[in-house]
Amino acid sequence: MTTLPTTAIIGAGSSGIAAAKALHEAGLPFDCFEASDRVGGNWVFGNRNGMSAAYRELHINTSRDRMQFSDFPMPKSYPDFPHHTQIAAYFDDYVDHFGFRDAIRFETAIEHARQRPDGTWELECAGGATRTYDMLVVANGHHWDARWPEPAFPGSDVFAGTQMHAHDYRDNAFLRDKDVVVLGMGNSAMDIAVESSQVARSTHLAARRGAWIVPKYLFGKPMDQLPHSTVVPDRITYKIFELFVRLHTGSPEHYGLPKPDHRFAQAHPTVSGRILDRISHGAITPRPNIAALGPDWVRFSDGTQVHADVVIYCTGYRITFPFFAPDFLAAPDNRIELFRRVFKPGNPSLAFVGLLQPLGAIMPLAEAQGAWLADYLHGRYHLPSRRALEAEIRRDGERMRKRYVASKRHTIQVDFDRYLVDLARERRRGAERARRTGFALPVPARTGAAPEPAVAR
Ligand SMILES: Cc1cc2nc3c(=O)[nH]c(=O)nc-3n(C[C@H](O)[C@H](O)[C@H](O)COP(=O)(O)OP(=O)(O)OC[C@H]3O[C@@H](n4cnc5c(N)ncnc54)[C@H](O)[C@@H]3O)c2cc1C
Ligand SMILES: NC(=O)c1ccc[n+]([C@@H]2O[C@H](COP(=O)([O-])OP(=O)(O)OC[C@H]3O[C@@H](n4cnc5c(N)ncnc54)[C@H](OP(=O)(O)O)[C@@H]3O)[C@@H](O)[C@H]2O)c1
Repeated sequence: MTTLPTTAIIGAGSSGIAAAKALHEAGLPFDCFEASDRVGGNWVFGNRNGMSAAYRELHINTSRDRMQFSDFPMPKSYPDFPHHTQIAAYFDDYVDHFGFRDAIRFETAIEHARQRPDGTWELECAGGATRTYDMLVVANGHHWDARWPEPAFPGSDVFAGTQMHAHDYRDNAFLRDKDVVVLGMGNSAMDIAVESSQVARSTHLAARRGAWIVPKYLFGKPMDQLPHSTVVPDRITYKIFELFVRLHTGSPEHYGLPKPDHRFAQAHPTVSGRILDRISHGAITPRPNIAALGPDWVRFSDGTQVHADVVIYCTGYRITFPFFAPDFLAAPDNRIELFRRVFKPGNPSLAFVGLLQPLGAIMPLAEAQGAWLADYLHGRYHLPSRRALEAEIRRDGERMRKRYVASKRHTIQVDFDRYLVDLARERRRGAERARRTGFALPVPARTGAAPEPAVAR
């Protein structure tokens, strides 16, 4: 009987549990380490790990049927765009349905992950206990380390009001009767500007770049469920979608928003069914980028100036791995070169799950990555040569640079359907490579068939 490699998964958010479920079903030995006392990561409002960006009124913006795992549908009683409490409950139920809760080590944050010369891993938990594994799967999420404007705006050090990042926004109670400036054109900015507009004296939505505002529904269906063939070239599909959006809402400029400097789908989608309505009511005033702040004011790049009590920076997130030594692995400017967003060339015992930003939901893609990893760890899939991996990464990077607006938010983009089709094809090719080598294990079992008990230092 073959001894299988042991695996550690860092994180039990939706990506970590997708990987854990795949390994569990494939009979692979693993432990999943979770800093919090529960699964669900970002979707647990007020998560005690301090990493959730969920606000009280957060609803998903990818629709229910797009977000659910393929073999565990969300309850039909859920609406098309459920509330965060429903999403967190769904992930919790997933773990019990597939029965792998025992493999999750809750309240066990990994502080250091060190790779030994033989490729195995030594993980150090908070508190000092260490464990060793053959394989490391990183699923620590990429929407928790707030990216503030870089560099800070002139005068931000003298502004006497509140400056905060969207990550720390919970609800609009503190905005009542305040003058509020919200910066950004992503989904955080849309939601927070709308919430602010319900209670604030004034809400200004500042942006350095325009965006196509995607409605939640088109033709009575959630927009992300409209038929989308991977046979039709993407540029044609997205031209059609742009036309639909133009017919539905008109151009963003019509509402006083900046004209997008790109075509539809050349930026991560900004989805909102409410922002244009609030702008059209005069409850939100579009502005260009912030130029400077004073003690109680914000000036914009067109020279206009407003009184401000609160500035909310909805300026995105940094991809970070605090448990790796920076000279081992980091993602400067959110760049990290991975084969199909999972494998690092030259390091067969390291993989990432959920580290991608789809036009669509992350969860089914993390599920597919988990199944891929299970095949890999069993020796049923073999990676191409290192040179081939690097060539594919270069091509992928080139495609992304050509397609997307240059921004730190567009470094790990994928198209939902195309990613799944390409991954299925790659798995078939890798299965053939594995067959040719007699299904040798790409990650040898060195640390023992079962994860060893924790050793306190
Ligand atoms: C406000 C907001 C709304 C969003 N809405 C959508 C949406 O509608 N649809 C969509 O597809 N995506 C959405 N996203 C993207 C979001 O990244 C995913 O929904 C999802 O949370 C990704 O899951 P994850 O498991 O990769 O990361 P997370 O949910 O961040 O989970 C990571 C987990 O890893 C754990 N962890 C991290 N570091 C360690 C460590 N060192 N040791 C142990 N445990 C660790 C954390 O405690 C956490 O539980 C949204 C993001 C934000 C910020
Ligand atoms: N309801 C929901 O489901 C929901 C709600 C919130 C967030 N989310 C998800 O959470 C993730 C993060 O979204 P996000 O909106 O927080 O971040 P984001 O998508 O990265 O958007 C950041 C925005 O800030 C702008 N920006 C960054 N730095 C700036 C600077 N220095 N000056 C001016 N503008 C700056 C960016 O402009 P450029 O484009 O020019 O870089 C962009 O408009 C996304 O996946 C999103 O879909 C979902």
